[in-house]
Parts: sequence; structure tokens; C-alpha cells
Amino acid sequence: MAKRHKEGTEVYHDRVANIYDGIYSNKPYWDFYWTITWRNLKKYLPTTMPTRVLDIGCGTGRWGLKMLKSGYHADFLDISENMLKQVSHKLDNENLSYRPSLIHASIDDLSALDENVYDFITGQGDPLSCARNPKKALKELTKILKPGGTMVMSVDNRHCGYTHFLEKGDLSGLEKFIKTGKTEWLTDKKEEQFPLTMFTPKGLQNMFENAGYEVLSIIGKTVLPVRSLNARNNNILTDTKEMRRLIKIEESLNSKESLLGSAAHLEIAARLK
Ligand SMILES: C[S@@+](CC[C@H](N)C(=O)[O-])C[C@H]1O[C@@H](n2cnc3c(N)ncnc32)[C@H](O)[C@@H]1O
Repeated sequence: MAKRHKEGTEVYHDRVANIYDGIYSNKPYWDFYWTITWRNLKKYLPTTMPTRVLDIGCGTGRWGLKMLKSGYHADFLDISENMLKQVSHKLDNENLSYRPSLIHASIDDLSALDENVYDFITGQGDPLSCARNPKKALKELTKILKPGGTMVMSVDNRHCGYTHFLEKGDLSGLEKFIKTGKTEWLTDKKEEQFPLTMFTPKGLQNMFENAGYEVLSIIGKTVLPVRSLNARNNNILTDTKEMRRLIKIEESLNSKESLLGSAAHLEIAARLK
């Protein structure tokens, strides 16, 4: 039987799946980032229970598991089979009344899935940016979302992609990138290369509005330069009280349009009309 061709994104994520959680462990910055993410997600999760929700680009299942444990009927979807295996191992250790579906698919083509199933879909860690064609992927996702359903998607912020071209002295590349937002996952391994789309806040908003959504919010994650604190001798990320204060400060700023450019990621919440 002929071997199925795997896209670069699948090859890469299959390779890192069993070390993926370790990449982020023990980093106070990521605790901060994930707290901001969960608090934002909770604002838009359905209030009726149980409700079917979907974690796309689920990776090792961080968000789907959180939704399951909060009482939602959460399913998991990823292009990487090895990531889904990690989710499956984690589910084996949980005593849950709902048995989730683990869906091996690319958001570029969801034609095999039933339509109008989910009340809520989230994609964290930027699967929409990794899609071959994000506009088409959004259309595919829209088919499986129920009318009135909500999506919360994080994507790569285009403003953070400029440095790469400047450092290479590649102004033609920069000009093209500013227009299209298209670049590539940086790797020497040819088989792991995949296209990336980085978004401007306006471009992201337009893409959702054109697909029939009402945009509820766009935030930057994170607009405060908190990541650089890791290396310094500073307890605001490790002291619980200080961390809480910092979260409040971040949240008072993270939807301000003028600050969105400083965040590595943008996160859109939008309701399908
Ligand atoms: C950076 S990881 C994020 C994982 C998880 N959502 C989290 O926040 O920890 C991105 C995930 O998106 C998946 N992914 C990338 N492109 C995808 C596509 N076209 N369709 C479905 N999943 C995709 C990858 O396999 C990977 O598991």
C-alpha cells in the first residue's frame, strides 16, 4: 500500500509530541500566559451544560482536558496522530462520564465530519496560522460549528515577524511579508517545513467578519513584556499575590488596539451569526 504523504506540520508535531509538555514545564511565564488564556476562554464558553465543544490543534490536550473537567463534552482534533496519542494516554487516567472523540484531521479539510455539531470551538497555539489556507480552514470550521456558536482562536501576530526579515537584510521578503503575512516555520529539516500565516488585528477581524461572524473581542497575548522577566531576579511571576496583580494589569491592557502590536499572539473571540 502506498504511504500517505504527511505535511510538514504533521511530521514536525509528530516528532515533538512526546516531549511537547516538557518544552513548557516549570516556566512561570507560561503559567501566566495559560492563566490569561483560560480566563479569556471562560468568558466565551457556553453557559448551558453539557455542551459539545471542540479543541482544534489540541496538541497534548491542555484545553480540551480543562473543558472536559469543567463539565463540557469536549472532543479533540489534531493533524498529528502522535499528539492525539498523548491525549489518549491522559484520558486513560481520567474518570470521565463523557468519552471524547479524538479526531485525526487537518482543519484544511473537515469534509469527513458532521456539520452543525459544536457550540464552541477553540484553537490554541495557533493552528489557524499553521493551516495551508486559513480562510478555507475557517470555512471548514464554520461548517461544524452551530449557528450562534462561538470560536476563540489564537494566531501568530504579524508584527512579530518583521525581525526575521530585518536580521537577514531581506527587504524584498519584508515587503512581501507585510502584504501577505506568509512565511515559513523556521527549520533546517526540509520534511518539517510548513507555511505560516501571521495576522494583523484588522486582517483577523476581516477574515472572521467575511466568514459570517460577529467579532466579540481581540486581545494580545501578552501585551506586557512579561516573557523577558524569566531571566531576571524578580518574584512577580512566582509570588501568588503579585501574579494575581499582574494578571489584572495585563487584562486591563490586552484589548487596547494600540498595544496589540507588542504581543506575540492575537486571540479572537467571535460568534457565528
Ligand atoms: C503549538 S501546538 C498547540 C497545542 C495546544 N493547542 C496547546 O495550546 O498546548 C499546535 C498544534 O496544532 C496542530 N496543527 C497544526 N496545523 C494543524 C492543522 N492544519 N490541522 C489540525 N491541527 C493542526 C499541531 O499538530 C499542534 O498539535
